[in-house]
Amino acid sequence: MSGWRGTLLLLLSCAVLCSCARTAAPPAAAGSAAPPAVAYEAHVAAGGIAPAGGVLNNPHAGDAAVAKAGEELFHAMNCDGCHNLGAGGWVGPNLGDGRWRYGGADAEVFSSIYYGRPKGMPAFGGVLGAAGVWTLVTYLRSLPVPSNVPTESWEQP
Ligand code: HEC
Repeated sequence: MSGWRGTLLLLLSCAVLCSCARTAAPPAAAGSAAPPAVAYEAHVAAGGIAPAGGVLNNPHAGDAAVAKAGEELFHAMNCDGCHNLGAGGWVGPNLGDGRWRYGGADAEVFSSIYYGRPKGMPAFGGVLGAAGVWTLVTYLRSLPVPSNVPTESWEQP
């Protein structure tokens, strides 16, 4: 092999190696990748840049018949045992006053019910599945928010 051919071959293999290195994903240590997340309306992102997250859409948004079924499920699953009849609040918070600790958008209410919340809210996703939880979300979002809520909110309008 003559000198210039050898040099050309070397350059070509370099180019191939370099382009491979540029397009290949960085090696990920096992378990280091972030789990799939939901993009939350109420979350604040540092620098205004939210991490990649999936979007959860309520397949029954605004459906009155599903809201009615959700009301029955709210009773059948004993949600009202903690949140009271009509979700008016007891040992669990009021779910119809328009004030939400974890956010009141469909996806946020879904996550509260599906995965539970730390201060005493059990996770119901395992027993109800996504379909059952969406039924409950549809019911809770159908509750009319009163114009006058007698207690103060920690959030200023
Ligand atoms: C054992 C009592 C208990 C039961 C049963 C229960 N909850 Fe809760 N729930 C709570 C408590 C306590 C909280 C507040 C949790 C917190 O602040 O971390 C809560 C919080 C929530 C929230 C979030 C409220 C917010 O302000 O963001 C939703 C939504 C909710 N519950 C819906 C339900 C539904 C629907 C059911 C029935 C499938 C249910 N809960 C059953 C006790 C309960």
